[in-house]
Amino acid sequence: MCGIAGYIGERNAPEILFDMLKRLEYRGYDSAGVAYFAHGRILVSKDRGKVNDIRKNLNLGRESKLGIAHTRWATHGEPSRENSHPHSDCNSQFTIAHNGIIENYKELREGLIERKHRFLSETDTEVIPHLIEEFYSGNFESAFVKAVKKLRGSFAIVAISKSNPDMILLARKESPLIIGLGDGENFIASDTPAVLPETRRIIILDDLEYGIVKKNSVTIKDLETGDEIKKEIREIEWDIEEAEKEGYEHFMLKEIFEEPNAVRNALNGINKTEEIAGKLKNFNRIYFVACGTASYAALVAKYLLERFGIPSEAIVGSEFRYSTVNSLGSDCAVIAISQSGETADTIASVKEARKKLAYVTSVVNVVGSSLTRISDDVIYTYSGPEIAVASTKAYLGQLVSLTLLCLSLAREKGNINEQYMNEILDDLHKIPDKIRQVLDNEGEIKKLAEKLKDKKIFFYIGRRLNYPTALEGALKIKEISYVHAEAYPAGELKHGPLALLEEGVPVIAISPNDDLKEKMESNVQEARARNATIIMVGEDGDLRVPVCDPLLSPILYIVPLHLLAYYISTAKGLDPDKPRNLAKSVTVE
Ligand code: AGP
Repeated sequence: MCGIAGYIGERNAPEILFDMLKRLEYRGYDSAGVAYFAHGRILVSKDRGKVNDIRKNLNLGRESKLGIAHTRWATHGEPSRENSHPHSDCNSQFTIAHNGIIENYKELREGLIERKHRFLSETDTEVIPHLIEEFYSGNFESAFVKAVKKLRGSFAIVAISKSNPDMILLARKESPLIIGLGDGENFIASDTPAVLPETRRIIILDDLEYGIVKKNSVTIKDLETGDEIKKEIREIEWDIEEAEKEGYEHFMLKEIFEEPNAVRNALNGINKTEEIAGKLKNFNRIYFVACGTASYAALVAKYLLERFGIPSEAIVGSEFRYSTVNSLGSDCAVIAISQSGETADTIASVKEARKKLAYVTSVVNVVGSSLTRISDDVIYTYSGPEIAVASTKAYLGQLVSLTLLCLSLAREKGNINEQYMNEILDDLHKIPDKIRQVLDNEGEIKKLAEKLKDKKIFFYIGRRLNYPTALEGALKIKEISYVHAEAYPAGELKHGPLALLEEGVPVIAISPNDDLKEKMESNVQEARARNATIIMVGEDGDLRVPVCDPLLSPILYIVPLHLLAYYISTAKGLDPDKPRNLAKSVTVE
């Protein structure tokens, strides 16, 4: 997810564009840049870093009235000056900024290089200005349309040409793009926060539409037919903060509702996981290392491998770095998992592991983060920026990446039959829609949260790969509601914790329809016999989830628990986005 901006009018474009980028930084913040028309040409200023840092160091034109800008969330190509947007063609005739993923960029790039185009970055985006250059024969709009039609994947694009300083072209497919209507000036942005201080009147571009934006006119056309389209002008009621959350009350809720996309995006990494699995099969010992929520994803991976007869260990970073490392050697593979890629205990564990000559691969969300730079290989989850301190969508991205990795390793070792493998992969591709069904039950979950909001303790129980689901569910309540919650393997209740159960204590039982369903039932009966309040998570539970392969249940069953924790927090009048004592990334020991 990146932030795009454009301005055309009578005021100073670069200054306005940087103000717009600041309000889009929640969409991505590893690098930024502006391109603006001045002295008969397009000037580009861009660099790695946050918008304010770049703004300080850039020489911004004063007499420019036209420009585009971009704040990046890296997907293809590490965060760097070369990879930051905007990007230009060979002769700096055309300059563009892009949000999305061009799936066919490799073949386009190869063809362009064969035809002697020179590339300066490793991004998928850079093929776009070169395509425009290739199709250009005097008409910017026509060349732009032909270029965009060559693209497969998702895109929101803004483009300027030094031969046409009176217009900005834009096009959209699956990545958001809006036009803010001013008086003698117009604004373009990925999202409404960027334009709200200037105007509340917007046009929303729809998929496969493109536009020609001038300072006194906006024309929208159908990308396929070229026919002009009459678009509704909308009046935005939100304030800026609401707009950044796209109308959700908190980033955490927005990010829970992005969980279907987080699963889809992680599925794009299947080729990489197959490649890494080919390396992992050569190692005698496998260790997962992570902290907090990521450590529960690690535990799920441990159970997944065991399901296919492959032993491994899942250790939290603060323990791994001082204990586990003593037993590592060159026959070991370490898989580090981290949303931020900046967690000190995880990074330290990896550094220690490398000293012992272990092979290290990491599963990370933030492209180019510290952990990625000390790993032999990286599997990106592509979950997009996760702003809320409590991790939600990134956890699902980790689970999907690790599920693909474990299945691929099981196949490499001949421990899974091809038919079952294909069945699971089919079901995995259906998970986003199943998550959507759970999210549609939001109202029921909110009501349950209202009933539970004053409870003083919660129990979460699960078995095998849903024990980590219990751990994650419990952590979420602790993190954002400040209420104690215990997570146990369900079979452990009778070995002590049962003494804590009494009238009204909530026990949340994660119970998929698998071969241990009856065992779970007995554990639930033990709790019910002590008058605990039982909340079943399952296909016919109080927290209902659709049918799925039990192997994928950790991905689906955590969704109602994320929502439950969120609504208990808000019912208690707390701010789930900024929980006390916690930070989004724990970069200290
Ligand atoms: C999860 O909700 C917490 N914010 C915390 O446990 C987090 O998962 C942990 O600090 C690890 O962070 P990382 O994934 O960025 O390494």
